[in-house]
Amino acid sequence: MTTLQALPARVITVDGPSGTGKGTIAARLASLLGWHVLDTGALYRCVGLAAVQRGVALDDDAALGDLANGLHIGFDGERVLLDGSDVSSDIRTAAAGEHASRVAACPAVRRALWRLQREAVRPPGLVADGRDMGTVVFPEAEVKIYLDASPEVRVERRYKQLKEKGMDANVPDLARELAERDRRDRERSVSPMEPAADAVVIDTSSLGIEAVLVAVLGEVRRVLPDAVPDAVPDALSVI
Ligand code: DC
Repeated sequence: MTTLQALPARVITVDGPSGTGKGTIAARLASLLGWHVLDTGALYRCVGLAAVQRGVALDDDAALGDLANGLHIGFDGERVLLDGSDVSSDIRTAAAGEHASRVAACPAVRRALWRLQREAVRPPGLVADGRDMGTVVFPEAEVKIYLDASPEVRVERRYKQLKEKGMDANVPDLARELAERDRRDRERSVSPMEPAADAVVIDTSSLGIEAVLVAVLGEVRRVLPDAVPDAVPDALSVI
């Protein structure tokens, strides 16, 4: 992980805990710029799902590393394919989030996915969303965003998201799961979730998606003015 091969294209990193709007912002930003997007949480969720399906213990570092190295994870628009099967809904359950967070604490899994994530960079550029994009996977990225929000707001957003998808959810359980997942993601010894020293931190607790997108685009325009197409307006209410 120490020698960094030059990337074939630019990268913008969007990190932070779940429920901050990270995934939506990364996807909208990529679409405005005409860049690719990579949801790295989906990769960890696939490893967790495959481990459960194959009976691999969620703390068996070596076995999980081998498993992660052998998986074929693909994206087809919104769909996530694991070894050719559509697992888009299976990886979005609360249990899948918990399994992902557990396998994400394993150094061998992070090594396997580190390589995969670096290999996903394609011209004209990649917006990468995750927990350690700006700190560990793409430390050389020119624009690094870290989105945060209060635990209460994040639980509320997660609750609405699950309900909209017709999934079972209740606020006290979600609050407990979120606190536990935050603790594990922040305190793990490898690649803990934290803002990079050079990241722009945005608290989205009282901001809607459009307002966050305007702030993020402002930062992209400041650092990479030529990356933003002229057709993208300053005010996004028209989009
Ligand atoms: O963003 P998400 O909720 O889909 O992520 C699921 C879990 O995967 C999260 O609890 C921590 C882990 N993860 C990680 O450790 N590093 C990443 N770059 C992305 C996700």
